[in-house]
Amino acid sequence: MKVLVIGSGGREHALVWALAQDPEVEEIVAAPGNPGIAVMRPAHDGQTIVCRSVDIADHDAVVALAVEFGADLVVVGPEAPLVAGLADPLREAGIAVFGPSKDAAQIEGSKAFAKDVMATASVPTGRAYVCTTPEQAAEAIDAFGPPYVVKDDALAAGKGVVVTSDRDEALEHAAGCEQVLIEEYLDGPEVSLFAITDGTTVLPMQPAQDFKRLADNDEGPNTGGMGAYTPLPWAPEKLVEEITEKVLQPTIDELRHRGTPFSGLLYAGLALTSRGVRVIEFNCRFGDPETQALLPLLKTPLGGLLYAAATGKLADHEPLSWKSAASVAVVVAAKKYPASPRKGDVIAGIEQAEVNDVRVFHAGTALDGDDLVTAGGRVLAVSATGKDLDEARQRAYAAVGQIRIKGSQHRTDIALKAARGEITL
Ligand code: AMP
Ligand code: GLY
Repeated sequence: MKVLVIGSGGREHALVWALAQDPEVEEIVAAPGNPGIAVMRPAHDGQTIVCRSVDIADHDAVVALAVEFGADLVVVGPEAPLVAGLADPLREAGIAVFGPSKDAAQIEGSKAFAKDVMATASVPTGRAYVCTTPEQAAEAIDAFGPPYVVKDDALAAGKGVVVTSDRDEALEHAAGCEQVLIEEYLDGPEVSLFAITDGTTVLPMQPAQDFKRLADNDEGPNTGGMGAYTPLPWAPEKLVEEITEKVLQPTIDELRHRGTPFSGLLYAGLALTSRGVRVIEFNCRFGDPETQALLPLLKTPLGGLLYAAATGKLADHEPLSWKSAASVAVVVAAKKYPASPRKGDVIAGIEQAEVNDVRVFHAGTALDGDDLVTAGGRVLAVSATGKDLDEARQRAYAAVGQIRIKGSQHRTDIALKAARGEITL
């Protein structure tokens, strides 16, 4: 199988790595890929992995590349091209695509659309008001009371949400958005559950947890995600079944009934509140950095799985199978992330870090001559597996300790509470 992977982040690096483990995958092109993908070695004889530069906003160029390469499958990684509709012209060209259409990607592209789908399908979520003026926003903010949850309706790379007890900060964030959602505050631990779907059949992955705040103890600003782990030893036994039945399947069914079937990865971000499971958000693609933690534990060959989803054949697919181990991914971010990440700092120590089942996935890196340098906010995701979370944590943090980037930041408490058994429902 020949697979074209669109995107250049840590999630795409992890996807390429996992696709390469599938014996059926012979050729992978990553476009534009990143310096980490560019130096990947094949996982089996005769396999090739190369990067090709392409402007992913230029849909004609991406279709031309897919045709020229003879791709059997195109995997679109990031949300921006999906929301912009890249999957549509690829499908029109007769190519199997893993990733939703432009219309279905609205589940992530517009929070108001997602709320409407959930209301129709009776999917449990926080109550919310959609506001278009500062006056409406102020009214909604005062109706709920603190802590205030203010969400930009549009895509904002994980930085569109402000959760604060400071009324002025809430009002200020609302004023900066064209359309804003003011939402009820949801307490309780968060879970990310990903499902592979062809628009009808839903195959849930195992749950993961992401750490959105910049600093230890969930302090500091929201980010795209500073680390993740899986599985969740504290999760109730039937959690995946419950979320599939109450959230994933009804959402997929509703999108199909609307004439906009969702094929690809549906990401449910959930809060396990005292009153039950609530959806915080949907995303239309693999989550970052949960993917970097999840994929090293997936035993099911990824190429075959994504191809089955892309061609509407998931009903015949086996349930997913997982290694019985634990996995932890720790993000190493650039100095001054998320406000104004510094670019051009030299990155050293990756080779020393990649021992003991550790993989370093590149996200914001670039080559400057022979030097690998920082080129984005979240620079690397250091992912390790182990027999349990303690061992996976030890390995991940030993590896993070090998990596040297001036002024870099990382959290030291990824998966710590879970490993210590301190998360309760
Ligand atoms: P989102 O981009 O919607 O996932 O929001 C980013 C983060 O903000 C989430 O992972 C939560 O930690 C937090 N958040 C979002 N909505 C709520 C809510 N209604 N109640 C509490 N926290 C929230
Ligand atoms: N892990 C958060 C995201 O991918 O949006």
